[in-house]
Amino acid sequence: MIKVNDKHLIKGVDYKKYEDEVKKVHQIIHDKSGPGNDFLGWLNYPSSYDKVEFEAIKKYAKYVRENFDILVVCGIGGSYLGARAAIEALRGLHSKDKLEIIFFGQTFSSDYTYEVLDYIKDKKFAVNVISKSGTTTETSIAFRLLKNLLEQKLGVEGARKAIFATTDKEKGALKTLATNEGYPTFVLPGDIGGRYSVFTAVGLFPIACAGLNINELMKGALDAQKDTAKPSLFENEAYKYAVIRYEQKHQQKSVELFVTYEPKLVQLGEWFKQLYGESEGKDGQGLFPTSATFSTDLHSLGQFIQDGSKCLFETIVHIKHAKNEVKIPSDKLDLDGLNYLAGKTVSYVNEQAYLGTLEAHEKSGQVPNVILEMDKLDEYSLGYAFYFFMKACAMSAYLLKVNPFNQPGVEIYKKNMFHLLGKKGY
Ligand code: PA5
Repeated sequence: MIKVNDKHLIKGVDYKKYEDEVKKVHQIIHDKSGPGNDFLGWLNYPSSYDKVEFEAIKKYAKYVRENFDILVVCGIGGSYLGARAAIEALRGLHSKDKLEIIFFGQTFSSDYTYEVLDYIKDKKFAVNVISKSGTTTETSIAFRLLKNLLEQKLGVEGARKAIFATTDKEKGALKTLATNEGYPTFVLPGDIGGRYSVFTAVGLFPIACAGLNINELMKGALDAQKDTAKPSLFENEAYKYAVIRYEQKHQQKSVELFVTYEPKLVQLGEWFKQLYGESEGKDGQGLFPTSATFSTDLHSLGQFIQDGSKCLFETIVHIKHAKNEVKIPSDKLDLDGLNYLAGKTVSYVNEQAYLGTLEAHEKSGQVPNVILEMDKLDEYSLGYAFYFFMKACAMSAYLLKVNPFNQPGVEIYKKNMFHLLGKKGY
């Protein structure tokens, strides 16, 4: 569950003013009558997903866990960020799990490419290649390299048992390749765009391979689907958050800083940035989404947030209960002067840092803060949060009168790059 705490905004929001507009947009989302309406497959996906494929995902994930030491997830943008966010959030940054997960195909960096190939070449690895279009250049180059490496190590037949594809049901280069090779293949439904795809096999297969409970993830998503299906913003926390964002834009804020106090949520910030950046940033509209981890970044960005230009507001994901507690020990000499904290937990210190920072930013910095309260971080609550942010994003984009589901601006650099690379037709 997510509760929106709006008590730390500098100016209160007159929600009444937005009630009718929100209801109208709700209607547009739910009767699928707005721009991009053929990409609303995610809306009811937590209740309507393919249960047969879901079981196959779990079966193949078990096979990967039993037979390999590494899973290389090969995809970019919406085809990897959700899985990465979930796996890091739920396993932590130094997981002792027997299956290592490596993300690949999200960069043209020659060094990264070399280093990953060099690292995995003598290890037992499987590949999950993920691409809806099947033509994304970063992913395609990386997959060609992985396929070659596997075929050299295991032969063509052996490689086929180590490769899993996630792509469109019937079209695209990857679909053709997967069919020709006979790879087990999962579907990214045609009516779901990459950045809204974390509950499809795009997210679920790597998450299940990581040993995480995808039943619980989907349960959380389903509850969020139900909770955010209410048309009134007074009963719908996702819509309330969307209105707060909209109001901040009208109060001349141009940047939304997504803040957590958990390093293992850095990738959730990356997922959030793609979701909101690609969904809203068009037609000269949108807040620039960026992210920070506190208290780490209070030692770098903190100065700007407190005292710099007043362009931003903060969205804080506040998780009330840490999964693990660590007590600060007492020390005989107390040369570091920390005995006043002896017996207290690190999470207690984190909480005081949060409260102190909130007050500093709000009261003396005059930086608006909206707080999204979450009880704890587990599969259920993360599933809830992913859905919550997607629904709030659709509402936010439609309030700005932009299509939340396309990304025309992304194509321009690709055209230039293809021209420079000498690709036919460019
Ligand atoms: O959200 C999106 O649609 C994009 O980020 C895509 O997911 C990304 O560009 C990768 O595309 P594809 O899955 O076709 O390789």
